[in-house]
Order: sequence, then structure tokens, then C-alpha cells
Amino acid sequence: MKHFDKQAKEWDNDPKKIERATTIAKEITDFIRPNKTMNAFEFGCGTGLLSYQLKDFFGTITLADTSEGMIKVLQEKIANENIKHFKPLFIDLLEDGFTVTENEYEVIYTLMTLHHIDDTNKILKIFNTMLKTDGYLCIADLVKEDGSFHSNVPGFDGHNGFDREKLSAILLKNGFEIAYNEIPLVIEKEIDKKVRKYPVFLMIGKKIN
Ligand SMILES: C[S@@+](CC[C@H](N)C(=O)[O-])C[C@H]1O[C@@H](n2cnc3c(N)ncnc32)[C@H](O)[C@@H]1O
Repeated sequence: MKHFDKQAKEWDNDPKKIERATTIAKEITDFIRPNKTMNAFEFGCGTGLLSYQLKDFFGTITLADTSEGMIKVLQEKIANENIKHFKPLFIDLLEDGFTVTENEYEVIYTLMTLHHIDDTNKILKIFNTMLKTDGYLCIADLVKEDGSFHSNVPGFDGHNGFDREKLSAILLKNGFEIAYNEIPLVIEKEIDKKVRKYPVFLMIGKKIN
């Protein structure tokens, strides 16, 4: 069983995860001012914590993740609460041959998932294809760190956070302008019996071409 499948059932029991989704959702809505004519896509949704905070702001929300466990928990929540406008998807946008619909979404957002994606350029290009012109891509993730954040995750082979200048450059290369770039959140995590601080940025790119 994969790392996130194992964690799925307990994911929502951590108040800090709910708190970070709440903080990022508020930043996104304050900046974008979404409305119900807009359709959104969450990449790496897990159990949907961020989309739940954004539930009343969009017409539809498509939620995608590659963990079957996470998507199962999300499907149960959606069924229990009879939410009609959430569309959970167990898919991998990065799989060879997977094709996305062009110009489908006004907003794409992702929280703490980009550092798990090996090829940042490839996924940003895919996001650009999926977005409508003037649409927003909201990325919330770790600022570059020393690798300690995942020191308790055996075999972690993702990015140790992001240098925001380098990430901005990849966004620009893929047809976005940088509309917002702040650090709204700091995650505190105990590593080797010491509480350490990990800043989280929110970068919002606007699709210009
Ligand atoms: C740290 S969790 C964050 C989950 C959720 N965004 C949250 O904040 O609660 C990272 C998530 O990214 C998902 N993930 C990893 N690689 C992915 C990929 N290629 N496509 C979609 N989701 C992916 C994992 O399954 C996991 O649910």
C-alpha cells in the first residue's frame, strides 16, 4: 500500500491540516474573488480539505489524486453529505498518453502536492492547457527547506520545497504572469524532538497565453 493510501483514513483527524487548508482558502478567495459561474480543479486533493473550504465559491469543483485511499475517503464524505457539485477523480495527469481537455477551468489550485511531482515544468504546462485564458493557477507549497520536512518519510524522492524565483521563472515560461506571491502560513513540525518551522508560500499565476 502506498504512503498516502495508508494515511487517508486518519488524514482529517489532524487539526493542523484543516487549519492550513482554511488559511490558504481564505487567501485564494480574497485575491481571486470567485463566483459560481467558475469551475475549479484541485490537483492532489487528498481527502479534499482545501476544496471543502472553497465549496461554496465555485459552480463545480473537480478533485484529482493518485491515491486510491484518499479518493475513497473523499467519495465517502461526498456521499454522506450529498454534495452534488464535487467530482472526485482517481487519475494521474502525468501518465504517458493522458490527455486533458483544453480551456476547461477558471481556477486550478493545489496544496502541498507540487513537491511530490518530479517534472514541475510538465505539470505547469498541463495546467496551462486546462485553464481558460485569464484563469488562475494557485500553488501553495513549501519554501525551499533542508530536506528535514520529509525525513520521517522513507524513500521520499520529491522536491525539498521550492526556490520561489525559480518556480516563478517556470510559470512565466509556461504562459503565466505572477499575480500573487506571499507566505501566508508556517507549518510547525517536530523533527528529532525539536519543533521546526517550514514557511508555505502561495503563488498565483494568471494565464496570459
Ligand atoms: C501532502 S498530501 C496533500 C493533500 C491535500 N492537498 C491536503 O493539503 O490535505 C499530497 C497529495 O498529493 C497526491 N499526489 C501525489 N502525486 C500526485 C500526482 N501525480 N497527481 C495527483 N496527486 C498526487 C498524494 O496522493 C496526496 O494526496
